Amino acid sequence: MVISSTVKHPDEHNESIDCTFASRYVREAVPKFKLAESSIPKDAAYQIINDELMLDGKPRLNLASFVTTWMEPECDKLIMDSLNKNYVDMDEYPVTTELQNRCVNIIAHLFNAPIGKEETAVGVGTVGSSEAIMLAGLAFKRKWQTKRKSEGKPYDKPNIVTGANVQVCWEKFAKYFEVELKEVKLSEGYYVMDPLKAVEMVDENTICVAAILGSTLTGEFEDVKLLNELLTVKNKETGWDTPIHVDAASGGFVAPFLYPDLLWDFRLPLVKSINVSGHKYGLVYPGIGWVVWRNQDDLPDDLVFHINYLGSDQPTFTLNFSKGSSQIIAQYYQFIRLGFEVIILSF
Ligand SMILES: Cc1ncc(COP(=O)(O)O)c(C=O)c1O
Repeated sequence: MVISSTVKHPDEHNESIDCTFASRYVREAVPKFKLAESSIPKDAAYQIINDELMLDGKPRLNLASFVTTWMEPECDKLIMDSLNKNYVDMDEYPVTTELQNRCVNIIAHLFNAPIGKEETAVGVGTVGSSEAIMLAGLAFKRKWQTKRKSEGKPYDKPNIVTGANVQVCWEKFAKYFEVELKEVKLSEGYYVMDPLKAVEMVDENTICVAAILGSTLTGEFEDVKLLNELLTVKNKETGWDTPIHVDAASGGFVAPFLYPDLLWDFRLPLVKSINVSGHKYGLVYPGIGWVVWRNQDDLPDDLVFHINYLGSDQPTFTLNFSKGSSQIIAQYYQFIRLGFEVIILSF
């Protein structure tokens, strides 16, 4: 299937780029189900795909998924230069790994994780908030199961409490990883999770309560501070230690800048993990997300895989193995380019 670039396709001798539109390649139907019998010249392949893609919408006009559609040309260049780097090969690309670690540290500090200035934060870059949430959910499930086992109690009916306004990734997590999703119903005029009702729904099988900072439906922030207060009281009464996850897919890169005094992050003791989408207000093209844990104890060690066949010992906690490096590099670009201050960019 792969043709060496030195071997010319028979038709390439006759058909220059100018006659791509007149060539037989654009007159025949493109393969939709099976590979074609033979190859076609690269300019024809380009033209066919380019022209079909013209029917897609224009990303710059797409405000629907809150995802970044423009980055500075300098960053585009960094992205193009690293398109062929496999992120997972940390031995081969140690600087990329270092940039990921710096991003994790920066985000953990932004979310007020209780770590020293020089201490390394616990977290990982993901494809988006969905993967980040799967990982956070798995960590809660494993921690809860381990505790229940050690107490000799049943550990086969874990549940998670959320508002009915959660994004579909929470339903996916519940289905894929066999956790019951207990949703707090919304009511007329109140379209986020009511912390009071959420805490009422918590029982001994609750692995965590998930609050959203930036509801997908309205952008509204849920009251994580009140949730933390109510859950602290319930934990004291019952002897449980139900934690909180904050789904800050949208709000994680908004709240620290616009509402620095709002208590929603690791300043609240029960908040054990937070996810944020780098490709939303982290201002990076899709797909990049992040999950950070409060500290090492909140990420069970037996979920971390140690691979060594690419060289040295490399700890990984992701659902995928290979992936691109560009988005991580682009995230780091935005961090050092913009800093904390709010600046008006001029073009
Ligand atoms: C609150 C919330 N959580 C999770 C997600 C999923 O994020 P991603 O698209 O980064 O996987 C979204 C996406 O809109 C969201 O709004």
